Amino acid sequence: MSDLIEGFLGKTVDGKKSRLPAKLDYYQSATGLFLGLFMWGHMFFVSSILVSKDFMHTVTKMFEGSMFLQTPQPLLVSGVVALVFAIFIVHAMLGMRKLPSNFRQFQAYRTHMQMMKHDETTMWFIQAVTGFAMFFLGSAHLFMMMTKADEIGPFGSSDRMYSDFMWPFYLVLLFAVELHGSIGLYRLCVKWGWFEGDNAKQTRAKLKKVKWAITVFFLGLGLLTLGAYVKYGYEYSNGLVDKYNSATQIEKFLKVGK
Ligand code: HEM
Repeated sequence: MSDLIEGFLGKTVDGKKSRLPAKLDYYQSATGLFLGLFMWGHMFFVSSILVSKDFMHTVTKMFEGSMFLQTPQPLLVSGVVALVFAIFIVHAMLGMRKLPSNFRQFQAYRTHMQMMKHDETTMWFIQAVTGFAMFFLGSAHLFMMMTKADEIGPFGSSDRMYSDFMWPFYLVLLFAVELHGSIGLYRLCVKWGWFEGDNAKQTRAKLKKVKWAITVFFLGLGLLTLGAYVKYGYEYSNGLVDKYNSATQIEKFLKVGK
């Protein structure tokens, strides 16, 4: 914690200029890059439901180790979620240093943003707001995935979306994560000069276009995916049980008499 304070103040206890802010910035970039790229993979895996329920079932079992275990183990998924969760928390804590620390600072920033109407300033603001929202929503989702990894699948996930009324939660999380993730990756490219070439200004304009294309693509994919889970959840709740659900999931479903 004292490291974070030193990072925030930019000075060591004996008043020297600290190298810590640069180090913390580096860790924030590295964890952000990992999470941004992880989310691309995540969106494709979750959208496997768009291909078919069978395919999503196969993907789920693959993550449970079906390739090398006779009985796939959801505990493996819990372990991966725990690791992602830890990286997510480190990233969020490092990001918190940069949030306005009181309401007056926040108001000053907002006024500045409205006056400037500058893209980068607006992006920073979106990044801060979505990051704040994700701290709660992302943590809740990760905790749920970690403790209920055995319920991930064409039936469990669809039932959660529809019967447990989780779709509004996922809708907000989806917008937050897609805006935050693509702005984050864009800012990483600008900050560390990746793909800069000879004309930095031109590269920035191109990167902004790519950023928007990525946001629109993943938002579209995410909305379709969400729609598919809700549709199957609706069908399940009306008594249509998928033959590919694991026995325990079907039992649970019948027991509660939905
Ligand atoms: C290893 C970690 C993770 C696993 C195993 C996982 C798993 C899943 C699963 C199975 C779903 C489908 C719905 C459900 O079953 O409840 C889902 C949806 C979703 N997850 Fe994750 N997730 C992980 C990490 C994250 C993170 C870090 C975020 C962002 C902070 C995130 C954001 C979302 C969003 C926005 C959806 C809705 C997707 C859509 O509508 O297309 N997930 N996740």
